[in-house]
Amino acid sequence: MSGQLSTTILQYLQDHDFITDTAQFAHETAAMQAALASLAARNMIVYSHLEKEIWSLTREGGECLESGSHEARVFNAVEQSLGGLGPSAKFGQGAAFKNGWIQKDGSVFKKKVDAITDKTQVLLTQVLSGDIPDSKTLADMKKRNLIEKSKQISFRVEKGPEFSLEIKRQETDLTAELLQSGAWKSANFKKYNLAAEGAIPQGGALHPLNKVRAEFRQIFFEMGFQEMPTNKFVESCFWNFDALFVPQQHPARDMQDTFYISSPEKALLPSQDYLQKVAQVHEFGGYKSIGYRYPFSNEEAQKLVLRTHTTAISTAMLYKLAQEGFKPAKYFSIDRVFRNETLDATHLAEFHQVEGVIADYNLTLGDLIGFMQRFFEKMGVTNLRFKPTYNPYTEPSMEIYSYHSGLKKWVEIGNSGMFRPEMLEPMGLPKDVRVHGWGLSLERPTMIKYGIDNIRELLGHKVDLEMIQKNEAVRFDKTMGREKGAMEA
Ligand code: PHE
Repeated sequence: MSGQLSTTILQYLQDHDFITDTAQFAHETAAMQAALASLAARNMIVYSHLEKEIWSLTREGGECLESGSHEARVFNAVEQSLGGLGPSAKFGQGAAFKNGWIQKDGSVFKKKVDAITDKTQVLLTQVLSGDIPDSKTLADMKKRNLIEKSKQISFRVEKGPEFSLEIKRQETDLTAELLQSGAWKSANFKKYNLAAEGAIPQGGALHPLNKVRAEFRQIFFEMGFQEMPTNKFVESCFWNFDALFVPQQHPARDMQDTFYISSPEKALLPSQDYLQKVAQVHEFGGYKSIGYRYPFSNEEAQKLVLRTHTTAISTAMLYKLAQEGFKPAKYFSIDRVFRNETLDATHLAEFHQVEGVIADYNLTLGDLIGFMQRFFEKMGVTNLRFKPTYNPYTEPSMEIYSYHSGLKKWVEIGNSGMFRPEMLEPMGLPKDVRVHGWGLSLERPTMIKYGIDNIRELLGHKVDLEMIQKNEAVRFDKTMGREKGAMEA
């Protein structure tokens, strides 16, 4: 509590019983209110609010009070600059003419009188001292932006039942010492302030990626998909690459692109039979393929990596499906994958992949395109384009583009394809089973949705926790995105 101000108030009340208006103390309202509230809490005073409208000078008004009105400055400028009007010309020229202070002689301004009285300045002095001019003058000054009306809050104060000049110490806790010494009997206890606002409890909050992930999961469940287990961040090269018919010399397997694990050194191999079939198709082909024709290395297959795509999981799930006796299936997963990337505003060494696979008899590329359209439409993204591309494990393969009306261009939103027979048949899947697969990043739609353009603001130590706490739940706009696409919302 500001002791000085409280003492002033108490002293004044001692002598006068009332303070009719605390404005007389010319003190800041907030400090005054704090001092009064604290004294009132001890019942030393009682106070009430007063609210008055007062006229005060605007910044411009204050300037005119100090340096003269614009018209007076124009008048002075004419004298000093031999005919020009100076910087106040715009505001003061009219009045200076109207007052008959200056005239124009050809292109030169001249004084018409020798001396002037700056009435505006005089009026401003009056307003400041509370001497309010007539309403027409007021309105005129207001129009010239010299004065403004503002509210002044002040207080009326009188003595309270516990009034005294001395502010007694108040106990906030009933302590063991107070009880033992008996001092509690005469102690002055502070009242509970039941109206005080409590501290806002901090709750957990979902990260934007988790919110967008929840939306994707919902869409997958709506469309009859089952979620795949994604708890293995470390995979063998066999499941991450070989089983997908990615040749062992493929550039994606470079250390520049993939993180290898040094310990443990080796993964277990899958069943001998399946390993043989995979090695065979790499080396010599089969299923109408000529293979890659290089010696397959089991050592290479046993190396461990941080999975570079969730397609490693889809592959293991398809293999399991084949082992258990094939039935049509729809699987999805959304989790982290790792790539040894150069880090920049849109790339980290890890990101989340949204992946789906559909396995059924005699699926066609048309089915895949149709499905993609329905899937993205559920996110509010319509108007897709497909562009042929290459993946070692799908044929045909298509990049998926959607038109982003904000960026005014087609942006790539996913990769897809039909898994190759060289990948599916060694698993033992029936020959007429076709499998669609597609993948996209979770980060991209999340960044677009939340208007974040640097990935470091979304993940990592630079993330603003307040942004995480306060950002809104996300909903893909499933009805209105027809032309626009919710990805850009
Ligand atoms: N694995 C691919 C990627 O990382 C996505 C994909 C999955 C493509 C399944 C085709 C089939 O981009």
